[in-house]
Amino acid sequence: MLKSLKLSITLFGLGLRLAAAAPSTPESSLTAALVRAPPALWAQPILSRVYNGVDINATTDLGVDYIKLASQEGAQLVAFPELWFPGYPRGNDDAWIKKWASQYVENSITVGDANWEKLRLAAQEYSIHVALGFSERVDDAIYMAQSLIDPTGKVLIHRHKLRPSGGERNIWSDGTMDAFQVVNTTYGRIGLLECWEHFHPSMTFPLQAQAEAIHIASWPYTPDYNEPAALAFESAEINMAAASVYAVNSGAYTLVATVGRAAAFGPDGREISSIPASIPAESAPLLLVSLNTTGFSSLPSYNVDGEQSWSTLEQIREGWPQSVPKVIGTFTERKFNNISSFP
Ligand SMILES: *[C@@H]1O[C@H](CO)[C@@H](O)[C@H](O)[C@H]1NC(C)=O
Ligand SMILES: *[C@@H]1O[C@H](CO)[C@@H](O)[C@H](O)[C@H]1NC(C)=O
Ligand SMILES: *[C@@H]1O[C@H](CO)[C@@H](O)[C@H](O)[C@H]1NC(C)=O
Ligand SMILES: *[C@@H]1O[C@H](CO)[C@@H](O)[C@H](O)[C@H]1NC(C)=O
Repeated sequence: MLKSLKLSITLFGLGLRLAAAAPSTPESSLTAALVRAPPALWAQPILSRVYNGVDINATTDLGVDYIKLASQEGAQLVAFPELWFPGYPRGNDDAWIKKWASQYVENSITVGDANWEKLRLAAQEYSIHVALGFSERVDDAIYMAQSLIDPTGKVLIHRHKLRPSGGERNIWSDGTMDAFQVVNTTYGRIGLLECWEHFHPSMTFPLQAQAEAIHIASWPYTPDYNEPAALAFESAEINMAAASVYAVNSGAYTLVATVGRAAAFGPDGREISSIPASIPAESAPLLLVSLNTTGFSSLPSYNVDGEQSWSTLEQIREGWPQSVPKVIGTFTERKFNNISSFP
């Protein structure tokens, strides 16, 4: 339907922009392409601690190639891993900050800059939804950003990781609570979270309360199961378990994009498809997953009687255990890392 409409508009010479006025007819299927290939300059193997710097220009061009490939493969949605633009720095400790943080900031995207526009226009050119994971520079800070761009090039979601995990919190600044937005599309309601946001109720709860049909879960990279060199926090065992639990808890198809492993979980939490890190990215840069979305777009956008609902939140607040002081600690204070302080 959308495709034929676009064709007739093009024939009448009215340009792609008008595709935005396409009728909002619910679609009956969605093919998603989950990127598992690495960005430019990314050292292999998956658990390599070698860091070669990042190159946002080369990575953006590579990203556009994958957006094009996804479209050619028949996908209507392509999702990238966390911080794929310009690349997740494995081993981002104090020594890394000293040597590399400034170069990383220079290679972060500013919304509206040339690389951002290339990616946004690629969504339009290849008529595909694009879910991005990127390091975003805003004034004196960088954020761990996610965006969902629709096939007309319109930005549907733009958010920053609420609270970067562990050492990430010394580099990227905190996002805000109000950016947890699930959006309605012709395929159903779509939401985004990244990495360890999938563990924390302050991040899962507001999204799950908005009743997603399709959840996009980006992690930076995932080694294979039983990989002895993997640290616990980066292991497939722990992170794929989080994705599976998220799927059950939200009732949403959960689509996982990471460098190495890509996977999809059904609303019952079972894995329906995956490609492990041991399969070379060159032979399979994308995992393609097709979903029957019949009826998704008529699903309610919340459930007042749900496990994740306002009343549950109130119940937690009102019935808070007396032995735990009702004190606002420092943890939820918004952390701001001024990039000028990086060496
Ligand atoms: C969501 O979008 C679909 C397709 O555009 C539409 O049919 C449906 O009514 C919308 N649902 C809500 C809750 O807005
Ligand atoms: C990206 O390319 C532009 C245009 O050639 C250039 O001005 C810019 O310095 C490059 N960015 C980086 C981080 O190398
Ligand atoms: C898609 O799901 C709908 C509703 O559950 C079902 O009626 C239909 O047969 C399914 N289509 C395919 C191709 O499986
Ligand atoms: C960041 O640090 C620079 C240099 O010290 C300072 O000029 C700037 O005001 C700071 N920005 C913010 C938002 O605090």
